This record gives sequence, C-alpha cells and structure tokens, in this order.
Amino acid sequence: AIEMSLRPQLLNQYIGQSDIKNELQVYIQAATQREESLDHVLLYGPPGLGKTTLAMVIANEMKVNIRTTSGPAIDKPGDLLSILNELQPGDVLFIDEIHRLPKIVEEMLYSAMEDFFVDIIVGQGPSAHPVHFPLPPFTLIGATTQAGALSAPLRDRFGIVAHMKYYSPEELDNIVKRTADIFKIAISSDAAYEVALRSRGTPRIANRLLKRIRDFAQVSSKDGIDIEIVRYALNLLKVDNLGLDDTDLKLLKTMIEYYDGGPVGLNTLAANIGEETDTIAEMYEPYLMQIGLLKRTARGRMVTAKGYEHLGYPENPNK
Ligand code: ADE
Repeated sequence: AIEMSLRPQLLNQYIGQSDIKNELQVYIQAATQREESLDHVLLYGPPGLGKTTLAMVIANEMKVNIRTTSGPAIDKPGDLLSILNELQPGDVLFIDEIHRLPKIVEEMLYSAMEDFFVDIIVGQGPSAHPVHFPLPPFTLIGATTQAGALSAPLRDRFGIVAHMKYYSPEELDNIVKRTADIFKIAISSDAAYEVALRSRGTPRIANRLLKRIRDFAQVSSKDGIDIEIVRYALNLLKVDNLGLDDTDLKLLKTMIEYYDGGPVGLNTLAANIGEETDTIAEMYEPYLMQIGLLKRTARGRMVTAKGYEHLGYPENPNK
C-alpha cells in the first residue's frame, strides 16, 4: 500500500520526463475533447524509471480503468482475447515487458490495435474456422526495456512512442523530498541531494535507498535524515559515490583484470560474473554507459579511461 501511495496520480505530480509529459498532456486533452480513446503508447527505457507509474497516470488522466499484465503472462491467444473482452470502451491495457509476448499473441494484437477486432480459429482439422470478435476501442500501453527487441510491425502500431530517460540529480532530489514527505520524515537538503546523486538516475532506486536510510535513522533515534546517516547507510549498503553497487564494480573489475579492459562480448562477461546476459544489457550496462565508464564498440564492451580511474586502477597502458 505504501508503494502505491508513492506513485503520483496526475501528470503534474509526476516529476521529470518533461518532454514526454508535455506531449502526453496534448494528446490526452485532444483525445478527451474528441471523446476518443487515446492512441496506443509505447514506453521504453531502463527499469525503474516509472513506466508503470506513467501508465497509471495516463489512465487516471483519461478517467478510464487500467488492466495490467505482462508479455510472458499472456501465453496463448485465448488469454489475450479474454483480457480484451473485459475492457470497457476507452480503457487502458498495460502490457509490461511487451517484447516478451509470444509470437502468436503478438500477431493477434495487430488487428486488435489497428481496427479493434480479433479473428480466432475455433475447432480443429476440417471444422476449424475463424470467428470474428469485435472489441471495444482501447489504449494499449506497452512497456519495454529494449525498443530494438520489438518487431517492426508491433512497434509501428504505436502512435505515441516515448523514450524514458535517466533522471537528473535535481529531479531525483525532488522525488526524494516528496517521498520523505509522504513518509513524514524530515530530510536535510544535502542529505536529499546525496541520495539523488547515488541513485543511478533511477527513482525506484532512490525510493528503495531512502527506505533503508529511514530505517537506519529511526533505529539510531535521529529525528530526521541528515548527511551523516545517508553516508553511513549507503556505505553499509555498498553503494558507492556514483551509485554503483557490487555487481557494477565486479563487472568493471572483471573486464579490467581478465580482459585488459576489453573489448569483451556481453555473453562472456555475463558468464564470468554469474549474471544473466539480459540483466547486464538492461540494468547494468545502460547506466555505466550513460556515466561514461563503459563503452560499446563493434568488437565488444570496453572500460573507458574514466572507468579505470573510478575503480582506482592506473590508466590502461595498452590503450
Ligand atoms: N516516484 C517515482 N517516480 C516518480 C516520478 N517520476 N514522479 C514522482 N514521484 C515518483
């Protein structure tokens, strides 16, 4: 329930992603004035940036219901049909991890999105025949960490495509202060900014760290959160001054010590540090690239000079 109350309800309460918000404000107002459903929306970007939250805000602004599911959860056309069937006109269907929809389900979505119907094959062998199901107009909001993983026919059916970006420290600072407010705990400005700096541009991480810091503050009988308790807690949580955790550091260290800083392939790297390839590609690599510690080349990933420096290694003499 606390998780839910942290989520903003309206666009003007949603912090950051201002280009996306400004666009959506227009499309929502225009669709509302025409009494139409909002066009389908694709949200893509790294995990934890608020894609689900934004989908809920959109439904709320459109004053419609939202039905939430995920790509892997819909394993056959019948599942999708029963979900679509239960929608009221104008409702939002939110599909998280939409790049992981089974192919036959994805193909069924094409006509549903474009013309609000599906044709389902009923029966088997010679008696098999298509049955036409008209659907209420609805808005599909798809979320994915990799737009590239989406097939072109699916991607092209989204009228609105929004690329979610990492949040700036100032935006995260506002989110941290807002969350502290909801938790009814005081936080000093330098403490809030420190959490913001160490949250990898990601609200989910900022809020998670703040919860742990709040625990430390409470147990140490502090009235509020100050910079000392933030440093103390983040130190114990092994979050470094750029927000990197053990896995980030292990990844960079492995590249430097075993591969001379790269280039090294993603699969090799994943096997070496015992993480899934997808996890590295979706969660770790984007931020390390964003802050310039890692770069992607045609031959594989490489640690940059800044990466060597951050880990305290002398500059790579071979590069
Ligand atoms: N909590 C998590 N993400 C948020 C955002 N973008 N705006 C406001 N509160 C949030």
